[in-house]
Amino acid sequence: MNKKTSGYYRDEFNKMAWIYDPAVSLIGAIFGGEKRIRRKILRLADIKVGDKVLDIGCGTGTSALIIARDVGDKGEVVGIDLSEKMLDIAKRKIDRSGFHNVTFLKANAEDITYHDSYFDKITAFAVLHEMNHEGRINTLREIYRLLKLEGKALIADYDLPEKIGGILLTGLLLRMFEGETARDMIERGIDSEIKEAGVNLRIVKKESILCGAGQVLLMEKQGA
Ligand SMILES: C[S@@+](CC[C@H](N)C(=O)[O-])C[C@H]1O[C@@H](n2cnc3c(N)ncnc32)[C@H](O)[C@@H]1O
Repeated sequence: MNKKTSGYYRDEFNKMAWIYDPAVSLIGAIFGGEKRIRRKILRLADIKVGDKVLDIGCGTGTSALIIARDVGDKGEVVGIDLSEKMLDIAKRKIDRSGFHNVTFLKANAEDITYHDSYFDKITAFAVLHEMNHEGRINTLREIYRLLKLEGKALIADYDLPEKIGGILLTGLLLRMFEGETARDMIERGIDSEIKEAGVNLRIVKKESILCGAGQVLLMEKQGA
């Protein structure tokens, strides 16, 4: 493929891979448990036995392995990420879980080497805000290209908070963990970036999470 990519990547994840799972588990515990939150979000995608699912920016593979159980032996899960250290942890989890239907690959979300319309579902949890504007636009176009017609994409990421709880939480998370790209994504809005990408991904559901600091968008691929 080798399309032009934005050339941007924040390599923090190779440095912090070792502490990523405990840190996310701790933050998740404050909001009722990490796995419970992930399952609740994933339910929106209505993943079925036999589905082919791509998890973009899979990190340490926690969501991909939940999905692997849902799609069963007849399904397929592919997790891609640019951080080798995050992927090392994800691969070790496959060994422990015994799933044979999941693969973790090093790849850039802006240029994924699968053929058009390969996947039934695509998920991206807390990933888009790690990319610059050009990277997000390229990734949204890849999501569209890789989905089957009427296939679903589930994006969970920051939102522009309106209530005080969400404003405080977003402020804290941005200050502690994020770079400029997260602020830029919040200001532009994912829905307006979908329009700018020129892809026909129709938002069929939007849910607010983490006191409004986050959003879950379920989108369906419609004909061009
Ligand atoms: C905050 S972590 C989220 C990991 C995982 N989705 C989760 O829910 O725990 C963001 C991940 O996105 C990956 N990432 C960022 N930009 C990427 C890109 N252009 N292509 C692939 N992965 C990317 C990072 O390496 C990192 O592992």
